[in-house]
Amino acid sequence: MTTKKIETTLISAGRAKKFTQGSVNSVIQRASSLVFDTVADKKRAAAGRASGELFYGRRGTLTHFSLQEAMTELEGGAGCALYPCGAAAVANAILAFVAAGDNILMSGSVYEPTQDFCTKILSKMNVSTSWFDHSSGAEIADLVQPNTKVVFLESPASITMEVQDVPAIVAAVRSKAPDAVIMLDNTWGAGILFRALDFGVDISIQAGTKYLIGHSDAMIGTAVANERCWAQLRENSYLMGQMVDADTAYMASRGLRTLAVRLRQHEESGLRIASWLAEREEVAVVNHPALPQCKGHQFWQRDFSGSSGLFSFVLKEKLTAQQLADYLDHFEHFSMAYSWGGYESLILANQPEELAEIRPVAGVDFSGTLVRVHIGLENVDDLIDDLAAGFARLTQ
Ligand SMILES: Cc1ncc(COP(=O)(O)O)c(C=O)c1O
Repeated sequence: MTTKKIETTLISAGRAKKFTQGSVNSVIQRASSLVFDTVADKKRAAAGRASGELFYGRRGTLTHFSLQEAMTELEGGAGCALYPCGAAAVANAILAFVAAGDNILMSGSVYEPTQDFCTKILSKMNVSTSWFDHSSGAEIADLVQPNTKVVFLESPASITMEVQDVPAIVAAVRSKAPDAVIMLDNTWGAGILFRALDFGVDISIQAGTKYLIGHSDAMIGTAVANERCWAQLRENSYLMGQMVDADTAYMASRGLRTLAVRLRQHEESGLRIASWLAEREEVAVVNHPALPQCKGHQFWQRDFSGSSGLFSFVLKEKLTAQQLADYLDHFEHFSMAYSWGGYESLILANQPEELAEIRPVAGVDFSGTLVRVHIGLENVDDLIDDLAAGFARLTQ
């Protein structure tokens, strides 16, 4: 048999007959109680409750098992835990591997709520956080302490999009703390553009809210773990009451079926717009991992199989509050909203001092206004016209 390509796996994964029961998609099985006909059935369910036997709603139903199996296959892990959103996946993956007195090592340019989880929640539990701001990797070994239990990466970084040298970081961490659990927020690449577990990462986390769901209408988190970490992640998350409803799990499974074509279009349109922006005189730098001017581009080129639709660019000027409102308030196709990964284009802006505030360690090395865009599935020429009209508003 030939090795399946990712597009094919996205179609077939999690669609065994036991999950579809004769239909194309997995069934939606909503349940708290799952009923046992005999004492022997109940005993069997209890024995297999962590490995796909129907036991109790919080352990999952056929709908969840289908998605978990698909994600496990797609990301090459031993199992996948599901959460009600990406933030829950991040928090619970970390919580599963720390105890009072431990230390975690955290990239300084991660998603802001991930940073806040460390400073506002872990700190209360006497778990300390050390921050690093290296994309090269080797220096990280100096920061690993005897009590460092978790190392958390996000690549590309939130907003500023630096790509990390994950193999170098993994090697450096392993040389000092072979047992530390290395986690990576893999949302940007939807878990498929960067095969985190193949690069030595233990747990690949996604806000499935973005590309898995793909339509901006539901929230889910996933964490795919390797063999070493799976049982601990699964049992801790279960005890923390982490689960998602069957309807949302179904929507994530359905999202997988079109993920490859959606991502391909996000990539194509995103690259076209990033290249167009790079030529604009208003723009100082385009932070798109596939462009050489993006920090860590060489690592993207070496380790990723493609790009998605989220990137940022920095203007040469810092816009005044009035200019920023004139610019952002009048786009026809770009809406202002948090989140991303849906079919629609989005735009948000940050002033350098706002970014510096949420990057106490990484800091910022630019002085212009930063604009983050998510390039959706609209016609790319319409999006370019819209962005051009935005620049024109700045000079009126
Ligand atoms: C990189 C990244 N990780 C995690 C999250 C959190 O996901 P959720 O909003 O589903 O909690 C987000 C949300 O924007 C994100 O961008």
